[in-house]
Amino acid sequence: MNAVLEEKVSIIEAVPGKIGAEVIGWDVRDFTKDSPEMETLRQLIYRNKVVVIRDQHDLDEQQYVDFAHAIGRPQVYFQQNYHHPDYPEIFVSNNLNEDGKKFGVSGTGRYWHTDCSFEKHPLSFTMVRPLIFPKSARETSYIDMARVYRELSDELRAYVDGARAVQEAWPRYKVQECDIDRSITELIENFKAECPPMSHPAIIQHPVTGEEILYISSGFTSKLEGLSFEENERVMQALFEFIEQPKFIHTHFWEEGDLLIWDNRSLIHKGSKAKAGEVSRMYRIGVYDNLPFYVGIEP
Ligand SMILES: [Fe+2]
Repeated sequence: MNAVLEEKVSIIEAVPGKIGAEVIGWDVRDFTKDSPEMETLRQLIYRNKVVVIRDQHDLDEQQYVDFAHAIGRPQVYFQQNYHHPDYPEIFVSNNLNEDGKKFGVSGTGRYWHTDCSFEKHPLSFTMVRPLIFPKSARETSYIDMARVYRELSDELRAYVDGARAVQEAWPRYKVQECDIDRSITELIENFKAECPPMSHPAIIQHPVTGEEILYISSGFTSKLEGLSFEENERVMQALFEFIEQPKFIHTHFWEEGDLLIWDNRSLIHKGSKAKAGEVSRMYRIGVYDNLPFYVGIEP
């Protein structure tokens, strides 16, 4: 770990080959678009892939949204049932309803995925700020897909190099109140019409670091174009088994006040599963950095 101390700010970056930086001493409520810290933060994210800014205890919803506008362009997620009632930029993962009213969606992201890979322009950064931690689950796990690609066998490389992978969100669709009395087939067809399958290169090149990244995940990637059903099943299973090895997994153990920001081009991630009945609430904001998502696609 390389520690840089500037006044009361401590920045600890990952050693080469690893991911994860920690910042202590920043108050993101003070940051604007033009703050020198914003460029420092962006570069920390690109270099370390996931950055935790500690002790952001007093950040309220408006300040969180303001911070998102300062670092880039916040996403408004296409499904309204995920929105915070007053701040549509905030995607709410929550199983605690207020005044008997549903507030966000519970149990999100408990599978390996990268946010919005099923869209033409996926998120550059994802920020997460937990408000209520479930007692049994205080961690989020990450895999650096540039490292996975570097270590991939020649046999599997032959399948992904130059290939396109199909990303599909419909298997993860969360049933809503308005879906009562509609068939599963109708729900799937309607959702596919709203969010059709999207293909991206299986290997993308990062526009800042230049790294080549294996851009697939067991959560959203259904197939490699051009393979037969049987061959695709075999290859996808082999790829996911290789990717999800314990040696690749980096786990963030949450502390009160943490604000986490990660590079959604480079990492896949997975939320941990709380025990039934435990309360949790988390606010996510997706951010576009206004660079092409990968080399060769328009911004
Ligand atoms: Fe996610």
